[in-house]
Amino acid sequence: MIQIDKSLIDALRESESIVFFTGAGISSESGIPTFRGKDGIWNKIRPEELANFNAFIRNPEMVWEWYNHRKKIIHEAQPNAAHLTIAEMQNHFKNVTVVTQNIDNLHRRAGSKTIFELHGNIERNFCINCKKFFNEELNFSAGVPKCECGGLIRPDVVWFGEYLPEDQFLGGEKAAISSDIFFVVGTSAVVYPAAGLVYTAKQSNSIIIEINIEETALSSMADYSYFGKAGEILPTILEEYRSGLKS
Ligand code: APR
Repeated sequence: MIQIDKSLIDALRESESIVFFTGAGISSESGIPTFRGKDGIWNKIRPEELANFNAFIRNPEMVWEWYNHRKKIIHEAQPNAAHLTIAEMQNHFKNVTVVTQNIDNLHRRAGSKTIFELHGNIERNFCINCKKFFNEELNFSAGVPKCECGGLIRPDVVWFGEYLPEDQFLGGEKAAISSDIFFVVGTSAVVYPAAGLVYTAKQSNSIIIEINIEETALSSMADYSYFGKAGEILPTILEEYRSGLKS
């Protein structure tokens, strides 16, 4: 059983604004593969072949085949103890904000309310021409779905080389700046500008708590690092916090 520092629990007691900055690792216990690491997606598929606009224009069928495959895995997945604990934290702290790089919608399905999606959401789609959104299930019976304007419809996810949705990034940045505690859960923290938010929080004197199965590029700057599964460590932290409340 992992030992949680008493000073961290004390800091939690003093805190009102908690941010959870999450990556693919938080959904791995739900059966959704991560991108890097031993069984990572990018070990099998070259991102430039699938996760960028030119690849989509070159071969929209292949790109959609891949996103529909991922959507199927995501629909069969359930939020795990890590997602559920973060949602539960909303009952204990004034402001709990999720700033996620994940497109899998599992934080929302777990009951989290305040969520900034830095890399989009696989449940949304839009026309590359007129930017009209299509959030209903798309029909692929006639091939890649097209908008009435004739434009191709693409998933509303951020591809390599694309800008992050400004409102989501600014929302995440504001949350980082005003956070008392900034959890960094299940991310290799190598993709920018998302990973830069951790430094924004640090510069705003937020306490940085890293949870990962292994060391990352952030481990040296984190105030606390817990190496293990998020689905085990987050419930333990909440339990320790709650048990303190009783005594
Ligand atoms: N609990 C905690 N951490 C875990 C777990 C787990 N159960 N399983 C894996 N991890 C950690 C890995 O050690 C790794 O550091 O999660 C991290 C996942 O890192 P990546 O696969 O690089 O995913 P992420 O950081 O989210 O990638 C960022 O890159 O490919 C793009 O757009 C994509 O949003 C993604 C971005």
